[in-house]
Amino acid sequence: MLTKIHHIGIVVRSLDEAYAFYRDALSLPVHKEAVIQDQGVRAALLTIGESEIELLEPITPGTGVARFLAQRGEGLHHLCFETDDVSQELETAKQRGVRLIDQQPRAGLAGMICFLHPKSNHGVLIEYAQP
Ligand code: CO
Repeated sequence: MLTKIHHIGIVVRSLDEAYAFYRDALSLPVHKEAVIQDQGVRAALLTIGESEIELLEPITPGTGVARFLAQRGEGLHHLCFETDDVSQELETAKQRGVRLIDQQPRAGLAGMICFLHPKSNHGVLIEYAQP
């Protein structure tokens, strides 16, 4: 079951520069920060009520987030829905004919995650996360 919007992903040129707004001007606490090698990003989660904002700074040229920044600039990148069972949620999406990016859940900043293809989702990249 999808339970809430876990986070909204935003691509930024520089995490340190983005902190000046999201952490310092908005006073949102940084809850986690890590380099995620397989996505080629340095990422942070900032808490806002029961949801989070995920900032993504590409560190590896040619990866999805790096291409997004090069082509579209900084901005909204994906929506993440929380689930209590990411494997089951992914299987359900597959059975319902949703195009997937990930065939299996993998480790991400928000827990076990997977991505659905934006072409199935009216132009929005959607992530599922099981924290
Ligand atoms: Co995310």
